[in-house]
Amino acid sequence: MTRPQRDDEFRLEIADLAFGGIGVGRHDGFVVFVPDTAPGDVVDVRVRRARRRFADADLLEVVQAGPDRIDAPCPYVPRCGGCRLQHVDYPRQAEAKQAQIAEHLARIGHLPDVEVRPIDHALERFGYRNKMEYSAAPDDTGEFTLGFHQRGRWDRVIGLDACLLATPAGNAVRDHVRAWGRREGIAAYDQREQAGFFRHLVVREGVRSGELLVTVVTAPGGDDVVDSLARELMGEIDGIVGVLHAINDGVAETTQGLPTRIVVGRDWFTERVLDVSLRLSAPSFFQTNTVMTEVLYGRVAEAAGLDGGQVVFDLFAGVGSIGIALGRQAKAVVAIEIIPEAVEDARRNAEANGLVNHRALCGDVGKIMREHREELPRPDVVIVDPPRGGLSGRAVRRVLEVAAPTLVYVSCQPATFADNAARFIEGGYRLDWVQPVDMFPNTPHVEAVARFTMQAGA
Ligand SMILES: C[S@@+](CC[C@H](N)C(=O)[O-])C[C@H]1O[C@@H](n2cnc3c(N)ncnc32)[C@H](O)[C@@H]1O
Repeated sequence: MTRPQRDDEFRLEIADLAFGGIGVGRHDGFVVFVPDTAPGDVVDVRVRRARRRFADADLLEVVQAGPDRIDAPCPYVPRCGGCRLQHVDYPRQAEAKQAQIAEHLARIGHLPDVEVRPIDHALERFGYRNKMEYSAAPDDTGEFTLGFHQRGRWDRVIGLDACLLATPAGNAVRDHVRAWGRREGIAAYDQREQAGFFRHLVVREGVRSGELLVTVVTAPGGDDVVDSLARELMGEIDGIVGVLHAINDGVAETTQGLPTRIVVGRDWFTERVLDVSLRLSAPSFFQTNTVMTEVLYGRVAEAAGLDGGQVVFDLFAGVGSIGIALGRQAKAVVAIEIIPEAVEDARRNAEANGLVNHRALCGDVGKIMREHREELPRPDVVIVDPPRGGLSGRAVRRVLEVAAPTLVYVSCQPATFADNAARFIEGGYRLDWVQPVDMFPNTPHVEAVARFTMQAGA
């Protein structure tokens, strides 16, 4: 086996898709990762970086297309950083995600024998995202544009005429703001120079309610400019219930946790999942694919197996949606969530959906479970739905302390899930099954629901 060097060029066959949607093959026995390739492709590549055990290479040419390669329908593939798998036929995308969950459990969790069920396919391949975050930038001719970062480039934005993952409303708001920006000569924020005004446009949508909440993120000042945009948007686009103005005077490209004012309307919108109506405030998290959220929550219900007699802990609860959707089959629900606005949403949502046995607590899961240990009922079912980083060691310990007979884990990151799963098993749980759910077609992201059962005598 010879280790390739930087800039080496050679031909290889892609054997599989690795995590992140990147093709992987072997050159003279040496593992090589090549983005934008599909299994079975024969490709010419140039090595970008050679490491001790593998190399990263760029695709030069597809010499022979593999059986799962298709023409990506989006013209911004592969430059745009959003979709990494559009060039792969959907069933193969889904299969790769399922395999990656099993691989992570084996490699990171040392759990090679877990039952990973066939993945639930996405019901819609495109137009499924209920939240879009566009970055502003000058285009090649210097005009104001809105789009996504070019893959691998923090300082370059690709202006978009359409995003195939966005809904028609999500695309319409972006187009309108871009036309306004050009007409009014608005300066897009330049990250290199750290100068300019307009930074981001965030469009959130209640797909079932038809309500849209728009947040404009700018450098400080310009209230009158944003006010006039907001009036225009409210007048021109159906369904907008509020326009917010957030100020980012820092270097970090964030849209979260910024000082925000309501320009017109309100700072929340509504959505429906299953038969639950939800209020979602601007800072609150919600699953970004409404239709597949129902499939996901259906799997959570299956794993929880409620019959009306159980106390449920809904940890990392967001606006309380899981606990409320399942709550009618529970004796009581305790939700824990760290974002105060989301906790307030959860309280209102429980009340609006007629759930009297629901309590929402605000704070870090690990901390709140300890602080309220004496006073909280013992849970029969604990549901955890952490962000990508998974549960902290402290949160894992708290969940093990309450030792609920059933633990349901909703994961959006196979690596942290695999690590947490191993800890729960060390603590006395058995992992019964894992159900992958494809919430994000054309991207490498994958969601999964897992059921753990506490072992007798543990
Ligand atoms: C993946 S979301 C899940 C939300 C909700 N279960 C749903 O289905 O929409 C994770 C949630 O955990 C919250 N969170 C993050 N870290 C937390 C912590 N240490 N303690 C409590 N909540 C946390 C986030 O604010 C977010 O609402």
